Amino acid sequence: MPAIRILIIDDSALFRKSIKKILGPLDPEIILASDGQEGLDLALREHFDIVISDIEMPKINGIKLCQRLKNNPATQSVPVVMVSLFDSDSDIDKGFQAGAAAYISKHEIKNSLLETVESILSKSRFNRDRLILVVDDSSIVRHIVENGLAKAGFKVITAEDGKKALALLDTYRPDLIISDITMPCMNGFDFCEAVQSDPDLAMIPFIVMSAKTDRSYMQRMIQSGASAYICKPYNIDELVILIEKILSDQFLLLLKEKERLESERNSMVASITSLITALEARDKYTKGHSEAVGRIVSGMLSMTGASRKEIETVTMGGRLHDIGKIGVRDKILLKPSSLTAEEYSHIKQHPLIGIKILESIPSFSEVLPMVLSHHERLDGKGYPHGLKGDQIPLWARMTAVADIYDALTSDRPYRGKMSHDNALQIIEDARCTQLCPDCVDLFLKWNAKDNTAPDPMPCPTAVQRAALVG
Ligand SMILES: [Fe+2]
Repeated sequence: MPAIRILIIDDSALFRKSIKKILGPLDPEIILASDGQEGLDLALREHFDIVISDIEMPKINGIKLCQRLKNNPATQSVPVVMVSLFDSDSDIDKGFQAGAAAYISKHEIKNSLLETVESILSKSRFNRDRLILVVDDSSIVRHIVENGLAKAGFKVITAEDGKKALALLDTYRPDLIISDITMPCMNGFDFCEAVQSDPDLAMIPFIVMSAKTDRSYMQRMIQSGASAYICKPYNIDELVILIEKILSDQFLLLLKEKERLESERNSMVASITSLITALEARDKYTKGHSEAVGRIVSGMLSMTGASRKEIETVTMGGRLHDIGKIGVRDKILLKPSSLTAEEYSHIKQHPLIGIKILESIPSFSEVLPMVLSHHERLDGKGYPHGLKGDQIPLWARMTAVADIYDALTSDRPYRGKMSHDNALQIIEDARCTQLCPDCVDLFLKWNAKDNTAPDPMPCPTAVQRAALVG
């Protein structure tokens, strides 16, 4: 992570040194300026995460410097902390009016500067990652609100009515919406209801801003799902404080929800791992098969530049792909000889049984296609649904290759394990009929990287190979 860049502007060398020392624990990159003009030039030329400025300085004082930074679109979101020896109420007021984020008396900097700077930087980082949608038919209101929010560090997009705002929501996912009520095309009521009725958008906090102070209006909007109602004319700083409060509450809620889901997922993973262990304990021949398929399929996916989350998901899907075999009777699952048509039909139920086991658990929703479709074949002769080609989900096609490779290179009750090279030959033979050619290529690419040493077993004939794959 790059160092925090802090600009300290003070005409006193002693205070510059003192402030620099106080901020040492943040390990920042500090740039010093000895008067307002030098500080302003630096702040306009380079990026800083925060500016700390004295008020009384030659050339340009701290208040004017702050005004200049806040009136410049390139620097308006950089927080400015004012410091002064004199603690004049008038200077403090003027500093806040100019847009300063905090005022600290130089008598107090030892005690409170570090904590204040840390808190401002953390808020600034939080705001910088937040996108606000402002909807109002008045271009003046849009401009004032956009400008005020940008100064607080938020990213802002605007729309002039509900219909245009809904169109923007196809592309953008704001963290908060602020909307007027009376607008052409689609008013604020209808817009709020449209947002609330879309499950993907309903969680976005919605603030209504309106000149109407009628209580019934407010109640109607709150009933429609609005988080807050703010009456025009309002002070833009009040709006910023309200937004920061709502976003911070929302962030904590989302964090708690994420922790709850994480904990639910962890306990589910523990339960499923026990189920897989129980499943594999029934059959010494398939011991470790689920783990191996998870490892191979995640190795294959990692060759595609997939995200860490996707790789974790396919690993889990690979481990779970045969979970439905829990519902297959022992005498069929462990039968050392050929299966009858009825027995084969029973074993073919295991993808559907797997889905029934997992479908009620939301965190496993993404692995269901791997469980359901890993026995589908490209030519449509697979089961349970006889899907063809691209109808078979990609991760299921990848699982099919991993599944076959591990099955071929492991002992089974009805045959010994096959050599690595022979298994590769069988996989090649099944390309385009049973297996997806792209997934076979991906497997070969992964295999070349994670190569298993070949063993000296003889190569089976084409007929033997066909029998083994089928
Ligand atoms: Fe299976």
